[in-house]
Amino acid sequence: MSRYAAFVFFLSFGVVSHLSHGIEVKVMNKDKLCLYANLTLSFSVTYEVADNKNKTVSFELPSSASSDDSKCDNTSSILKLSFPDGHSWSVNFSLKDKSYQAENITFVYNLNDSKVFPDSSSNETVTVTTKPDITDVGVNTCYSCKSEDTLIASPLANMTLSDVLIQAFILNGTKSENLTTCSADKPVTPTPTPTHVTNATTVVPATNATTAVPPTTPTPTLPTPTVGNYSFKHDVNSTACLLANFGLRIGFTQNKKYQEVNFDPPTEVSGSCGVDSSELILMSNGINVSLSFYNDTKKFRLHAVNVTLNTSSGIFAQSGANLSLWEAAVGSSYMCNKEQNFTITDLLSIYTFSLHVQPFGVKNGLYSTAHECSLDDPSILIPIIVGAALAGLILIVVIAYVIGRRKTHVGYQTL
Ligand SMILES: *[C@@H]1O[C@H](CO)[C@@H](O)[C@H](O)[C@H]1NC(C)=O
Ligand SMILES: *[C@@H]1O[C@H](CO)[C@@H](O)[C@H](O)[C@H]1NC(C)=O
Ligand SMILES: *[C@@H]1O[C@H](CO)[C@@H](O)[C@H](O)[C@H]1NC(C)=O
Ligand SMILES: *[C@@H]1O[C@H](CO)[C@@H](O)[C@H](O)[C@H]1NC(C)=O
Ligand SMILES: *[C@@H]1O[C@H](CO)[C@@H](O)[C@H](O)[C@H]1NC(C)=O
Ligand SMILES: *[C@@H]1O[C@H](CO)[C@@H](O)[C@H](O)[C@H]1NC(C)=O
Ligand SMILES: *[C@@H]1O[C@H](CO)[C@@H](O)[C@H](O)[C@H]1NC(C)=O
Ligand SMILES: *[C@@H]1O[C@H](CO)[C@@H](O)[C@H](O)[C@H]1NC(C)=O
Ligand SMILES: *[C@@H]1O[C@H](CO)[C@@H](O)[C@H](O)[C@H]1NC(C)=O
Ligand SMILES: *[C@@H]1O[C@H](CO)[C@@H](O)[C@H](O)[C@H]1NC(C)=O
Ligand SMILES: *[C@@H]1O[C@H](CO)[C@@H](O)[C@H](O)[C@H]1NC(C)=O
Ligand SMILES: *[C@@H]1O[C@H](CO)[C@@H](O)[C@H](O)[C@H]1NC(C)=O
Repeated sequence: MSRYAAFVFFLSFGVVSHLSHGIEVKVMNKDKLCLYANLTLSFSVTYEVADNKNKTVSFELPSSASSDDSKCDNTSSILKLSFPDGHSWSVNFSLKDKSYQAENITFVYNLNDSKVFPDSSSNETVTVTTKPDITDVGVNTCYSCKSEDTLIASPLANMTLSDVLIQAFILNGTKSENLTTCSADKPVTPTPTPTHVTNATTVVPATNATTAVPPTTPTPTLPTPTVGNYSFKHDVNSTACLLANFGLRIGFTQNKKYQEVNFDPPTEVSGSCGVDSSELILMSNGINVSLSFYNDTKKFRLHAVNVTLNTSSGIFAQSGANLSLWEAAVGSSYMCNKEQNFTITDLLSIYTFSLHVQPFGVKNGLYSTAHECSLDDPSILIPIIVGAALAGLILIVVIAYVIGRRKTHVGYQTL
């Protein structure tokens, strides 16, 4: 019992300082700093009010938060911030070998607190847990993430972290100046442009080659992907409501390794056509690609891309939303013959070849007028180049003429 008391005594000195924005926490173990955190945190919670209606409130971590329940141990530590009335937010960290990680984040909120949750029809205390992406933080380094990260702990509760600086294990009492930076903060390095296969260097394997390149063995030089013709129709008797043609290459980073794979025209095409949104879902060789389009009354755009693929190191799944790609007027189609590269997320990019798409307003199963991407328009460039060349030529002729005239003039005078 006395040991337990000592443990609590020594490990529960938390010092919380409130900054203009955010919170700084210093957890002490026997007068030595053992955990440090400086972060900005806000919550968003949906709860039920009278008449089966839902209400959503957003609030920041209040300044009255206390870190007294935080604890440090040799291989595990807890950052726990409790605030009135009956709410708390905590992160469990574990240390293994030369790195530490956050095991889970737990948010406890008390719906009985009418100051935070007015008119709540429930008086329960709700606990939600999620696993944050704080892994592989080198021991003796601080985890740093300035970018905003929204963690969806449940359909009803979100938390948004930003300007995060945490060292969960401080071994010698001094916060480290070395940082382990989150991927969201790292500058987006341009994805290398795929080099195309030149026939001369292609080595044809002597074995019976299968046509499909498995995604697990991407070759550094991929051939231009095959252009697939896709269409989606509501039922067999109707005409297509969504048309798409493209060759697709997927660039993805798995376990910090960048790889590329060509997407072969799939065996399975599905989707949906709506007034405001349409979707094309393609499946091929264990790769799933879904493209979601929005109709913003006048224009359409590719709004979200979701890619799931199986590699030898496991499943890679990424989705990017709130995109504004492939934009064209509703009632027309979007076309881009040149190769294009789109960064969807930090870990996912796509390359398109001979792209033509119409997600809305397809009539008689045929493409409407195409809006061409600017890349494709050499028709503008050619007259400019020709014009500039001609202007240069004329200038040279004029200069030559002027110089020639002067020389002859001077010649006459000296004679
Ligand atoms: C309120 O949230 C609950 C739980 O997610 C959901 O079942 C219900 O449909 C929502 N009610 C309304 C009116 O949105
Ligand atoms: C959070 O992680 C810790 C350490 O792994 C574990 O003991 C605890 O049960 C987890 N909590 C939840 C709610 O999953
Ligand atoms: C919660 O509400 C129920 C009825 O809605 C009531 O019986 C119970 O006493 C309340 N509990 C608390 C802690 O207020
Ligand atoms: C503690 O370690 C950090 C780096 O991990 C170093 O910068 C600092 O000087 C050390 N402090 C002491 C008191 O040893
Ligand atoms: C959580 O965040 C997502 C995305 O920002 C949002 O769509 C959702 O409504 C949020 N949920 C709550 C409960 O606030
Ligand atoms: C805590 O973080 C904020 C935002 O990044 C920064 O402005 C502030 O200086 C930090 N506080 C300390 C004590 O490092
Ligand atoms: C930062 O980390 C590197 C590599 O781990 C190490 O060589 C260096 O001494 C560290 N610097 C400090 C100030 O701890
Ligand atoms: C490669 O060979 C094919 C036919 O074998 C030809 O159509 C293509 O133009 C060649 N490509 C290059 C880059 O030489
Ligand atoms: C290659 O194909 C031949 C005939 O199609 C077959 O006899 C042979 O077993 C195949 N070899 C391999 C390695 O699949
Ligand atoms: C398609 O048309 C045929 C012949 O008109 C009809 O028998 C069939 O039920 C229709 N199918 C659907 C899904 O409407
Ligand atoms: C992406 O696709 C996978 C599998 O097709 C699915 O499980 C996941 O929910 C999708 N994600 C989004 C955000 O649509
Ligand atoms: C696009 O959206 C507008 C407004 O929602 C709607 O009136 C129009 O019919 C839609 N166009 C198509 C082709 O679905």
